[in-house]
Amino acid sequence: MSKHTATKRITVPDIRALKGREKIVCLTAYTAPVAALLDSHVDLLLVGDSVGMVVHGLPTPTGVTLEMMIMHGQAVMRGSSHALVVIDLPFGSFEASPEQAFTSAVRVMQETGCQAVKIEAGVALAGTIEFLVQRGVPVMGHVGLRPQAVHIDGGFKAKGRSDDERSRVMAEARAVDAAGCFAIVLEGVAESLAAEITANVAAPIIGIGASPHCDGQILVTDDMLGTFEWTPKFVRRYADLRTTIDDAAARYAADVRAATFPGEAEVYRFKQKN
Ligand code: KIV
Repeated sequence: MSKHTATKRITVPDIRALKGREKIVCLTAYTAPVAALLDSHVDLLLVGDSVGMVVHGLPTPTGVTLEMMIMHGQAVMRGSSHALVVIDLPFGSFEASPEQAFTSAVRVMQETGCQAVKIEAGVALAGTIEFLVQRGVPVMGHVGLRPQAVHIDGGFKAKGRSDDERSRVMAEARAVDAAGCFAIVLEGVAESLAAEITANVAAPIIGIGASPHCDGQILVTDDMLGTFEWTPKFVRRYADLRTTIDDAAARYAADVRAATFPGEAEVYRFKQKN
């Protein structure tokens, strides 16, 4: 969708209707000021559990809690007015049962005002997704490389090397599509597999490290702005904010040490009242 002028947010059906018509533009956001900067440029803002690694310094997303997602979700909702806002259900908040997933999703939606949740799940949890969708919770799926499965996989590993692995990812995508996901994140898969999945499921496929053949793209905003030190192969850096911040901090420190900050223009001088 082109840059907006209206204040009404993009809806779940709007995103679904873009499949095969227009590329869907998505980014992650975790704070109000960054959400405000991104809002007019994107169709969808994801409050991803990547927040654990890029903001909180956690080694994996598995330490992220529902409370953290809700706090960041509230900030992103306050900072945006145009994009559809989707919030990740973190590890441990949905796997135990469909009822647990429903309780977590309702809490996230009621306490933030977001329009949908994202669930990292394959065939095993397709029933949970269906349970939520049938009860009015829009769900975005997430298949392929699933960061919450980092300890099962032994790292963040791209998928699609063997026929078995390709069939497994295709089965995951088909299962969450049939369960009613309105869109599906497809992460870290071989180009040919991404093209095959995109052509064979009804929901829009939002790729990250999944080639240009997807219906849309998402990046972790901190990766594309260059604030996170580790950059996966599939990231294109659109800015180098690490260098910008480092330069700014160095110049500030030098000015304070040289007593040239604050200067004339940066101090309060009041006329004395008698
Ligand atoms: O948590 C996240 O930011 C995500 C994206 C990588 C899609 O799931």
